[in-house]
Amino acid sequence: MRLANKIAIITGSGSGIGQASAFLFAQEGAVVIVNDLDVQKGTDTVEQIRAAGGNAEFIRGDVTSPTDMELLVQEVIAKYGHIDVLFNNAGISGVGALHEIEPDTLDRILSINIKGVFIPSKYVLPHMMERKSGSIINMSSCIAEIGLARRASYAATKGAVLSLTKSMQVDYASYGIRVNALLPGTIMTPFVENYLRTSYEDPEAAIASLKTRQLSGDLGRPDDVAKAALFLASDDSKFMMGSPLYIDGGVVFGKNA
Ligand SMILES: NC(=O)c1ccc[n+]([C@@H]2O[C@H](COP(=O)([O-])OP(=O)(O)OC[C@H]3O[C@@H](n4cnc5c(N)ncnc54)[C@H](O)[C@@H]3O)[C@@H](O)[C@H]2O)c1
Repeated sequence: MRLANKIAIITGSGSGIGQASAFLFAQEGAVVIVNDLDVQKGTDTVEQIRAAGGNAEFIRGDVTSPTDMELLVQEVIAKYGHIDVLFNNAGISGVGALHEIEPDTLDRILSINIKGVFIPSKYVLPHMMERKSGSIINMSSCIAEIGLARRASYAATKGAVLSLTKSMQVDYASYGIRVNALLPGTIMTPFVENYLRTSYEDPEAAIASLKTRQLSGDLGRPDDVAKAALFLASDDSKFMMGSPLYIDGGVVFGKNA
């Protein structure tokens, strides 16, 4: 019970890595606030947590909307009095070399992936500052560290999240708040399945090729990242501040040939 009685908000937790983290955090004793844009996915996640004996509730909201996020935080504070963990997980993919990306698409990716970290944090931080305690986990990606073909917009957002994490850590360290980043490699989630389906003629061949990029020889699973998120959320990582945590099957630091 590494998160016993902790109040944890996880954005975009109706699917993939966020959902796996919601399941794991609840198993470890947290009250999980499941946030997502998608009501069906969010309520399904909460039902599954409750069926397994955990404690969770769904609050719909768009991470880019100051109104939605302010209301979400107000609702959590009114009911539970404090917030221990904020996992800024919601994000979308962006495929294409720079000249192929439409300005509107770029705005959407920048908004969800960067502003979507900034806005929930803005409303949660004053409550953590007041209690002089809290853990914020920002979802970056190993793409922040390496060049990958046709991911210009997405890579830019995940690099920004890593930089933002370091600046946030400096500003809030004196309030007892830790801010760290997760840098996953390729993890099999609906996000990646959709990207494979829409970007490659032969998704199976694409998966085989992606696997060769990993030293592990296989892609990651949502639970691999959820376990790293649990570590950052809990006091087990109390000496980690402003750090990137890689869960990438060796993509960043390894070489296969
Ligand atoms: N899957 C990977 O290989 C991988 C690798 C590195 C980083 N990431 C990052 O991990 C995070 C989660 O990815 P995933 O693969 O689990 O994706 P996913 O698509 O399975 O889940 C993302 C969830 O976020 C929700 N969401 C999207 N926009 C939102 C918004 N504006 N407000 C609230 N919720 C919103 C979606 O409805 C969805 O349920 C993303 O930030 C992604 O960039 C994923």
